[in-house]
Amino acid sequence: MAHFTKATSLHDWLNQRLAIDTLRRVLATEYWIPKNINFLWAMGMVLAITFAFLLVSGIFLLMYYQPNVDLAFDSVNYTIMQEVGYGWLWRHVHGVAASVVFLVIYIHMFTGIYYGSYKKGREMIWLSGMLLFVAFSAEAFSGYMLPWGQMSYWAGMVITNLFSGGSLHADGLVEWIRGDYVPAQAFLNRFFMLHVLLIPLAIIGLIVLHFGALRIPHVNNQDGEEIDFEAEAAKYKAGDKANSKVIAFVNDFMSKDMMVVSIYLIFFFYLVFYHYDFAMDPVNFDPANGLKTPTHIYPEWYFLWSYEILRPFSTNVGLIAFAFAQVIFFLLPFLDRSPNAVPASRRGLFKYWFWAMLIDMIILTAMGKVPPEGLFSAIGFYAALTFIGLWIALPFITKFEKKV
Ligand code: HEM
Repeated sequence: MAHFTKATSLHDWLNQRLAIDTLRRVLATEYWIPKNINFLWAMGMVLAITFAFLLVSGIFLLMYYQPNVDLAFDSVNYTIMQEVGYGWLWRHVHGVAASVVFLVIYIHMFTGIYYGSYKKGREMIWLSGMLLFVAFSAEAFSGYMLPWGQMSYWAGMVITNLFSGGSLHADGLVEWIRGDYVPAQAFLNRFFMLHVLLIPLAIIGLIVLHFGALRIPHVNNQDGEEIDFEAEAAKYKAGDKANSKVIAFVNDFMSKDMMVVSIYLIFFFYLVFYHYDFAMDPVNFDPANGLKTPTHIYPEWYFLWSYEILRPFSTNVGLIAFAFAQVIFFLLPFLDRSPNAVPASRRGLFKYWFWAMLIDMIILTAMGKVPPEGLFSAIGFYAALTFIGLWIALPFITKFEKKV
């Protein structure tokens, strides 16, 4: 039994029971961050804040949303948007955050790829990050079903159809997922449950794992330098902050982070108040109609690159290509065989690989938006092949990379 004494203050009372001083040291004042990092390292905090916006705005929307196929559309488009005070604001915050979060996730991922932050003990950070990516994708997709507009219905139809496995005859699987022959009440209910309960819980757990995975290897830095954190921390604590290569997470680093977060918030609320429509598809302002297929069904912008990898191929090959695109980023730490965890600009062929991958994914995104006809369809096809080819080439080009 631990030894408890009469508390001298509330702080002391809590400290004896929850070790809050130790927690504060481990998670904040003695959690060391390299000095040599730039604004891109604030993206993690930007993501955490955007997720908080999604949670809070989602809770307000949930107070009026009706998960019923006859009421859902009106509960969003009339009740929330027009009747409830500031309902429109919560919807705009939720919609803009859902789209912008992917932009920031992609920046955060590509920062990690550029600086090699998925190697040398940072593999778990990467893997938990990829699980977050998949969880956010599922969260976005399930949320898209809820207004029960035309795109909700037809995107739900197209994506669940993927599980028919083409000519693999996975009989009954699609109906099992939908709970019906077509997207209907059972379908809306289960996607509602996933969106408001199961996936957010998983995301919270994964964020804890992601932060935990950062604690031992610490964050990387702009030069990929292997810092002796104990020695540098000792300098800092002895008062030699100028010569130490590290700063404390709280308050030093947080104050720099908050500067970037503030600029982001200006951009974010500019979108919320003036351009919220960029995050909403006009077709989804028509109620779901199972008898009227939209002429051109496409997903939200952040799914377009993987959709374009699926589209040019026949059903089975397309499915395999799509599955490949979804999981391949998980394997990055193991497919990159080079020992160098330095910025791409200082690496051999990998620097070309990085830029080729980034540009290829932008091309795939653009081609995913346009109808698959003529030149666009040819460009999309070659971009999909390039994506697959780049991943196959990665272990070979990195294996022979010289140690820097
Ligand atoms: C949306 C959820 C996410 C949150 C809240 C989050 C949060 C964070 C935070 C706070 C950091 C430390 C500071 C920084 O480098 O920005 C970080 C680092 C990192 N994250 Fe994430 N992250 C998320 C998603 C992802 C995804 C999708 C990936 C990629 C697969 C990823 C990969 C990484 C990597 C590799 C690092 C280490 C960076 C370094 O060592 O320099 N994260 N994350």
